[in-house]
Amino acid sequence: MLAIIGGSGLTRLSTLAVARREVIRTPYGEPSSALVFGQIGGRDVVFLARHGQGHTIPPHRVNYRANLWALKKCGVASILAVASVGAVGGEYAVGDLVLPHQLIDYTTGRENTFFDGGDREVVHVDFTHPYTAQLRQRCLAAARSAGIPVHDAGVYAAVSGPRLETAAEIDRLGRDGATMVGMTGMPEAALARELGVAYVTIAVVVNHAAGRGDSALAVSVEGIVAVLETAMVKVRSLIDQVVKEAP
Ligand code: HPA
Repeated sequence: MLAIIGGSGLTRLSTLAVARREVIRTPYGEPSSALVFGQIGGRDVVFLARHGQGHTIPPHRVNYRANLWALKKCGVASILAVASVGAVGGEYAVGDLVLPHQLIDYTTGRENTFFDGGDREVVHVDFTHPYTAQLRQRCLAAARSAGIPVHDAGVYAAVSGPRLETAAEIDRLGRDGATMVGMTGMPEAALARELGVAYVTIAVVVNHAAGRGDSALAVSVEGIVAVLETAMVKVRSLIDQVVKEAP
């Protein structure tokens, strides 16, 4: 089954014909919200609102382990994770969609593994290519057939937040090779890998990062909210197409 993790601006999926909601308990606590099971175009999908149904859980308080564990427990094999980002490089316009192919993790203080020692054997998972190649290709093919422009590569810098960055921090991320910055990409991607679940991020560019472009003087939070609303129309169409073309 395919899961969609909705981020800011996507707390529910309008095209999802909801069948049932289920609150799942996990060894790591409760997920951000009840899992919403339903169908899109006759195919089973499950939706999870990363920041909770009422968008009240900030990025550093999301229980990523509970979220991923709950999805895996319900038989999820693939995840489309929607996440808003700021543009670090000049290659994206506000409102663009990007399927990153790489990430750099700058987060701190998050529970970031299921392999936490105790009486378990030490485990190291391969994470060379953090996003699942096959699922990325499926998304890119769906975007092409639906006529939705999507950048087919990018490097996602995951930061802790919830504050936005300084201009110098964005300069550093740029020098490191990051092309976008967001607050929720990690440990989500790594936890999916640990569970053997295919995972891609659909990144929505909602602002120029601090010190860049329109955000030379400040990042407009009001601007972000407005962009999110319009960009999510494209995201929903892309999700619908990916589901429709599922093998
Ligand atoms: N920085 C960090 N996270 C973000 C941004 C940003 O500029 N925009 C959306 N999420």
